Amino acid sequence: MPAIVLLGAQWGDEGKGKATDLLGSSVDYVVKYNGGNNAGHTIVIGDEKYALHLLPSGILTPGVVPVIGNGVVIDLQVLFGEIDALETRGVDTSRLLVSASAHLIGPYHRTIDKVAERFLGSARLGTTGRGIGPAYADKMSRVGVRAQDLFDEKILRQKVEGALDLKNHLLVKVYNRRAITVDEVVEEFLEYAERLRPMVADTTLVLGDALDEGRTVLLEGGQATLLDVDHGTYPFVTSSNPTAGGACTGSGIPPTRIDRVIAVVKAYTTRVGSGPFPTELRDADHAAGERLRTDGAEFGTTTGRPRRTGWYDAVVARYAVRVNGVTDFVLTKLDVLTGWEKIPVCIGYDVDGERVHEMPMTQTGFHHAKPVYEMFDGWDEDITSARSLADLPKSAQVYVHALAEMSGAPISAIGVGPGRAETIEIRSLLG
Ligand code: GDP
Ligand code: IMO
Ligand code: MG
Repeated sequence: MPAIVLLGAQWGDEGKGKATDLLGSSVDYVVKYNGGNNAGHTIVIGDEKYALHLLPSGILTPGVVPVIGNGVVIDLQVLFGEIDALETRGVDTSRLLVSASAHLIGPYHRTIDKVAERFLGSARLGTTGRGIGPAYADKMSRVGVRAQDLFDEKILRQKVEGALDLKNHLLVKVYNRRAITVDEVVEEFLEYAERLRPMVADTTLVLGDALDEGRTVLLEGGQATLLDVDHGTYPFVTSSNPTAGGACTGSGIPPTRIDRVIAVVKAYTTRVGSGPFPTELRDADHAAGERLRTDGAEFGTTTGRPRRTGWYDAVVARYAVRVNGVTDFVLTKLDVLTGWEKIPVCIGYDVDGERVHEMPMTQTGFHHAKPVYEMFDGWDEDITSARSLADLPKSAQVYVHALAEMSGAPISAIGVGPGRAETIEIRSLLG
């Protein structure tokens, strides 16, 4: 079973980390293909809880080769901070490979991310402030610094000069901040060069060879479909391509080698940061939203921000199936819905008086979208020990079947708790 993509179907935090960890022992490589330390994956193994940001979730599985692909942007301070923290806890990180073509996040990216948000005021995106957008902007503007540049100081200095040239004008004249010197940036980058050197590889070649040898490669997406810069709720998105196409460009694995696309989807919906969210529970429904947030522990792994909460949106799920070619879903956090008398599911939108069943074409249309709900019966039984569909209360079974039906792909696994074991496996996630 060669290449599998695992990605988020909604606005992130669907439980991709747990799903990747579940597959971990059956795969040979886990590749992070997009994003950077804006991601936050919480993984619970027994009594141990791990919060990963930049490292692929496969790092926790002995024997797996974790790979940071070319599509990722790397903050070296964060990378080594995370490696050191895991090593202290006895996790072996020595197999990690880093693409020579991955771009680096510099101190100027972090600064610009923060000041740009402040400058936007009420129009801010609510970014994670980690320098992700500015680093990708430099990549596209062809003034980025890549991992490979660390090993030639002369080239590195030239590239940093190129990157800072315009930015210092912007920082000083527009944002009223101090200029950042080439020396301080080069120094920050070089501090990590020798530690990074043995990890740096032509990861596209490594992965191509691995697939030729019949090895299994899991491509792990950060963020999610609706945060994709092309297919998401632009401009309230991240600056990379978390969708399945991004798995190819961000790793160098061609589309013809991808066999399966697993989308992780929560049994309800959350979103962190700004942007439209039709099923959000707010205003009169605020208390219900608060209840979902509390029951689901919906606070950001990266920033600690409370996540906005709302009901399951089948329009969004169907859209994710279409743009990613989803073969199956992993449905997570079903246990969080225990105790509701009725559970609404959004089956379409009312957009300015018109009933629609697809994502509106325009941003304005999506901002105007009002959810049309179908109501499902809830359940009261604790489902955290369910290990098969038959163990679920009848109404939970009906809910799960309805979601699969409405969303356009089968559900292969269901999360009924944060732990590895708290999972109902319906169909093998491999093979
Ligand atoms: P990711 O960014 O997609 O990896 O997701 P996060 O880790 O940011 O958020 C998902 C949270 O839900 C984490 O705290 C997980 O431990 C937790 N989680 C994952 N699956 C389940 C589940 O089925 N039930 C419950 N109750 N929690 C889950
Ligand atoms: P995981 O991988 C949820 C959101 C931010 C903000 C927008 C842009 O844990 O699912 P950025 O810093 O990327 O420029 O911020 O994207 N965002 C996420 N929301 N989960 C994530 O990652 C996210 N990564 C970025 O909150 O709205
Ligand atoms: Mg997360």
